[in-house]
Amino acid sequence: MRNKKTYLVTGGAGFIGSNYIHYLFENYQQVKVVNLDKLTYAGNPENLADLKDNPDYIFVKGDICDAKIVNDIFVKFKPDFLINFAAESHVDRSIGDAEDFIRTDMYGVYVLLEATRKYGLERFIQISTDEVYGSIDSGSFTEESPLKPGNPYSASKAGGDRLAYSYFNTYKLPVIITRASNNYGPFQYPEKLIPLFVTNAMEDKPLPLYGDGKNVRDWLYVKDHCKAIEFALKNGKLGEVYNIAGGSEMENIEITKLILRLTGKTESLIKPVADRIGHDRRYSLNASKLKTLGWNQEHAFKTAMQETVDWYKKNRQWWEVLKSGEYLEYYKKHYKMEL
Ligand code: NAD
Ligand code: DAU
Repeated sequence: MRNKKTYLVTGGAGFIGSNYIHYLFENYQQVKVVNLDKLTYAGNPENLADLKDNPDYIFVKGDICDAKIVNDIFVKFKPDFLINFAAESHVDRSIGDAEDFIRTDMYGVYVLLEATRKYGLERFIQISTDEVYGSIDSGSFTEESPLKPGNPYSASKAGGDRLAYSYFNTYKLPVIITRASNNYGPFQYPEKLIPLFVTNAMEDKPLPLYGDGKNVRDWLYVKDHCKAIEFALKNGKLGEVYNIAGGSEMENIEITKLILRLTGKTESLIKPVADRIGHDRRYSLNASKLKTLGWNQEHAFKTAMQETVDWYKKNRQWWEVLKSGEYLEYYKKHYKMEL
């Protein structure tokens, strides 16, 4: 038996995937990581620049929908574990055009599952999302709650989630599915609420708050998420779903005001704009299933938010380049808002 485990991380150049790869190298001496990433607008090799000379880190540029590349990786590297982060991940973009979401978040999962069926591995972790449950006005979703995704992103994620389960049920593939709440932390593409608002505030640009600003999200520090995924991989039961909650529910207006305080800016930067179409009102997860197994969050929201804001302050160059050009054009086209 090999004592150096090989992780195939798909979508590892994105926000959570790159944090997860860092987590692996920080926590294991004996580990090899193969990162298969298409490098869409959201994939950024800079996120892993510190690993470029590490012989145990292998980057493969490619699409999870491409069966040849996926099969070749299985043959060449014989992964023990596959953690699938690869996805189109932004709700607003899915409302603009859902095609890539259907391809990657559903068909891509099929290609990875078929390769696993052919070559085998120890664990297949499908990174799903709390959005598959849809919105909940009060109380919290458990893993038994029905799925009612409300936008093309969450619907395509629900497809990938249930397809992964079906390969456990039908072919006994060693699948575990995790559904996490909204993540924040370093390396998050500045189109999502927290990095967009933090960096806009730093640039004295308006913070475009959708609708009445009272939609609720449950914020999870990305480092706690990474640890939970690893915990589920090691301790989870095959075929099971595990919710991963942040335990920090907040209205968007509250987090907006917090960001302004942490960046030292005034509330005059808040700019109410038209609501997102089909905007889910509230997400809330009951994560007692994973907690009962022994997982616990390590980071308090307040300190993790401060660390996050500090990171965007220290890494201006990282996000400035992403916010130029293509990003602004996209928003102007789809939302006709001035930034
Ligand atoms: P992200 O958009 O930052 O990164 C996605 C990565 O996948 C990018 O590196 C991109 O290049 C890559 N990718 C996209 N299509 C691909 C393809 N066809 N083949 C190979 N690579 C491809 O996303 P994220 O926020 O890091 O989310 C990662 C995963 O976690 C997603 O599956 C998402 O649904 C899920 N999730 C995200 C959150 C969150 O708050 N961000 C919460 C719960 C679950
Ligand atoms: O809940 C998990 C999901 O969280 C993940 O599966 C998705 O990949 C991730 O993108 C995220 O989805 P949300 O739609 O909740 O995140 P986003 O950061 O886009 O928006 C958070 C809230 O802030 C939401 O209510 C919409 C609002 N918002 C967002 C943006 C980008 C604004 O008010 N203004 C904005 O400019």
